Order: sequence, then structure tokens, then C-alpha cells
Amino acid sequence: MRKKIIAGNWKMYKLPNEAIKYIEEIAPMVADTTHEVVLCVPYVDLFYTLLTTQGTNIKIGAQNMHYETQGAYTGEISGEMLKSIGTQYVIIGHSERRQYYNETDETVSLKLKKAIECELKPIFCVGETLEQRESGKTEEIIKTQVKIGLSKLEKTQVNNITIAYEPIWAIGTGKTATAEDANNTIKSIRTEIANLYGSDIANEIIILYGGSVKPENAKELFNMSDIDGGLVGGASLNAEEFSKIVNYLKVI
Ligand code: 13P
Repeated sequence: MRKKIIAGNWKMYKLPNEAIKYIEEIAPMVADTTHEVVLCVPYVDLFYTLLTTQGTNIKIGAQNMHYETQGAYTGEISGEMLKSIGTQYVIIGHSERRQYYNETDETVSLKLKKAIECELKPIFCVGETLEQRESGKTEEIIKTQVKIGLSKLEKTQVNNITIAYEPIWAIGTGKTATAEDANNTIKSIRTEIANLYGSDIANEIIILYGGSVKPENAKELFNMSDIDGGLVGGASLNAEEFSKIVNYLKVI
């Protein structure tokens, strides 16, 4: 049985004082969940949130990292740096980074390899644009992203990766893929993983859905056979709203 992961992606929101207040507010609301609760926060919030979450069940992640250990890369942060302060997760290949910062399947593959070497838990994002979807290319695009993204890993490292299927047209738009649609695409990701690495790994690997997840649709999405939780943007910014998504089984 795969565990569920409910991860928030704060993107470029929240100053450290706001982040601390949020953690203090949400910690008791999610204290008795059996799901893994993760918050991926801006770099400057990492240290504060890592301190504030001590003694809670909330895990902290970053939203990006460089694939080199160190070097003349002004403005970048390495996996070693993230690990050194106790960061547990890192988002790799988010569509916003692919769209605005030249992230490619190749750099994603280098980052995934490095993140695993640093013993971070990567949340590897894949997803199609509206244009690709409308021209019937969704599966082909996603399979290519998965195949190249994972290509530098050993087979034994693959199930240390969490995949997040985030259709780009559903991010921040209020449009959600139907639960069936999201489940079918996630199933096709599992089929591709089975082709590449065998059915044991395909059955074990955790695959999340992301794109306008809200308290109102979380239960339907997360109850689907192949959806193992969510990567939540906008609705993770409010502690009460995010706690409802974590506690989706209790939402009527
Ligand atoms: P929204 O939940 O705001 O659509 O964002 C999804 C996302 O990009 C999470 O990484």
C-alpha cells in the first residue's frame, strides 16, 4: 500500500515571520494525520520553518536546486546546502521553472541525480501544456519527460523519487483535470515506469496530482486508484485551507 503525500508549494510567497506564524497555526491541525505532510518553501524561509516544525510531523522542502556541488553559479543553491540545514524534500522541474528559467528535461535529470546523491527526496514534476493536450500529445510528452528525467538514475534509486503530474493548464487557473483524467494520465506514467524499470517499482512509486487542488476536490482526486496525494499551490498558502486538504477524508 502506497502512502499518501500532501505537499504544499508556496512558490514566491511568505516572509519568514509569516511562515513561522503559518507553521504554528497548522501544526496542531495536521498532528494526527497518517499522511506525509510537506511544505516546499522559499529558500529564505527554510531555516525558520525547519526550526518551527521541530517536534511536529511536517516535513520541509525547497522548490529548486542546482545540480553541481559548488562553483561560480551566482544566485544558485546546491543540494548539499539544502541537506546541510536539514531540508528533506526538493521540487525538481516545476513547470514554472521549465517555462521561465530554461529548465529542460536534461537539467531536470542532472538535478534528480544530484538530489538523490544528497539524500534529499525529490518531487519530480511533469505535465503538458494546453496546446499539447489539445493536439492529443499528453501521453507522449509526459512519457518523454519521465524517461529523460529519470535517465541518470540507477534502477534502485527510482522509487526514492516522488512524481507530481501537474497539467500546466490546470495550475493556478481554477481548472482541475477531472479525477478520471488525472488518474488515467497517472496510470500511463506507471505503465511507462513499468516498461522502464519493472512492475514492482511502478507499483511502489508515489505519484501526486497538482493543479488547482482545493478542499472541495481533494477527496475525489485522492481517492482515485493511482493518485497518491497532491502538490498544492494556491490553496497551501492558507493554513486552514491546506489542513482541510491534508484531512481530506474528513471533508464532507
Ligand atoms: P495551484 O494549486 O495554485 O494550481 O498550483 C499548483 C502547483 O503548481 C503546485 O506546484
